[in-house]
Amino acid sequence: MLSGRRILLVVAGGIAAYKTLELVRRLRERGASVRAVLTRAGAEFVTPLSLASLTGDKVYRELFDLTDEAEMGHIQLSRDADLVVVAPATADIMAKLATGRADDLASTALLATDKPVLMAPAMNVRMWEHPATQSNLETLKRRATRFVGPNQGDMACGEYGYGRMAEPAEILAAIETQFRAAGRLSGRRALVTSGPTFEALDPVRFLGNRSSGRQGHAVAAALAAAGAETTLVTGPVALPDPAGVTTLHVESAEEMLAACREALPVEIAVCAAAVADWRPAQTAEQKMKKGTDSRAPELSLVPNPDILATLSQQGPQRPRLVIGFAAETENLVEHAGRKLASKGCDWILANDVSPASGTFGGDETTIHLVDAAGVESWPRLRKQAVAERLASRIGETLPAPHMTETLSEGVAE
Ligand code: C5P
Repeated sequence: MLSGRRILLVVAGGIAAYKTLELVRRLRERGASVRAVLTRAGAEFVTPLSLASLTGDKVYRELFDLTDEAEMGHIQLSRDADLVVVAPATADIMAKLATGRADDLASTALLATDKPVLMAPAMNVRMWEHPATQSNLETLKRRATRFVGPNQGDMACGEYGYGRMAEPAEILAAIETQFRAAGRLSGRRALVTSGPTFEALDPVRFLGNRSSGRQGHAVAAALAAAGAETTLVTGPVALPDPAGVTTLHVESAEEMLAACREALPVEIAVCAAAVADWRPAQTAEQKMKKGTDSRAPELSLVPNPDILATLSQQGPQRPRLVIGFAAETENLVEHAGRKLASKGCDWILANDVSPASGTFGGDETTIHLVDAAGVESWPRLRKQAVAERLASRIGETLPAPHMTETLSEGVAE
């Protein structure tokens, strides 16, 4: 997996930098080449000599080092890699990248690179929890910077909490995941639905639901990161459009279905939207008035189209893989199996939303992937990790056209 991969490793200033040396050793053992950029603060924690010895290469330190610029400019340095890893990533370097500052070699390389960036944050727990750092984290995530850790535990400064850099083995696993995922779906077209739908009663009122769209948006981002040309059709949400995804904004179920039809043909469809089951039979053209007799209007509802079922039954235009979600509070797998059959889709990702599960309103969920062959239960994961695992699972089932010949027989194509 890592053999022949080129990694640009930015080592910023933090006590965790000593663990980065172990990471370098493990990367080299697996055949990756590592070129290190050491910040001034980083050099207070590890010596250039130890990094150079382990990478087997010179260590890059200053932006205006003329020798470096002559041998290799910072632009080339940042582009010559397959992946940029920042370990430890300090609050400072996260802030620099989030705001676009480039006042040393490390921050300049990060701003100039066109390659994926993986950060392993390490800092004091208060610094990590500070709204400024959390806002930088959100900004960077939105721009598709990947993160591993930080972990919870005792800190060098004597405090306890989130802020410990992920262990070398975890960073290594994240690096391998990154390489496994990238490009796996290139040449594929994907469609994702996300968010709630709003069904208008009149120009100002609607029937809606509380779906945040976080899962669907994360799936769209993960498919795009895996190389798929991705269209996201989303109902009203308070989330930014994911980077690298064509995002279409709709309100009602009927608009959502029409936008999905427009996006066809695709090979992969993931329906994560919480589509309203019913809509008002009529939408008043003007705002409905309360009137004088204080009688409430009777609402008459009609069923909405089922987008998942419609996409599953598109005949020749049917995507090769149609995936739905199911939120269940009991008999999870049994209900999901029934839904698979009634909708005609290929996979159902069933998640437990019983009050005991803590899924509603939380960021973590436990997924059971149900298909015709049976059930695959996943560990408890954050929604972003669910999305990445799904993208990776789709990639195994439907490899990119240029990758099919390199994969073993028996893969569904
Ligand atoms: O039938 P239920 O709403 O439980 O099914 C959930 C799955 O079906 C989700 O994947 C959801 O996106 C999809 N769905 C849909 N259109 C509907 C209702 C549900 O695409 N009208």
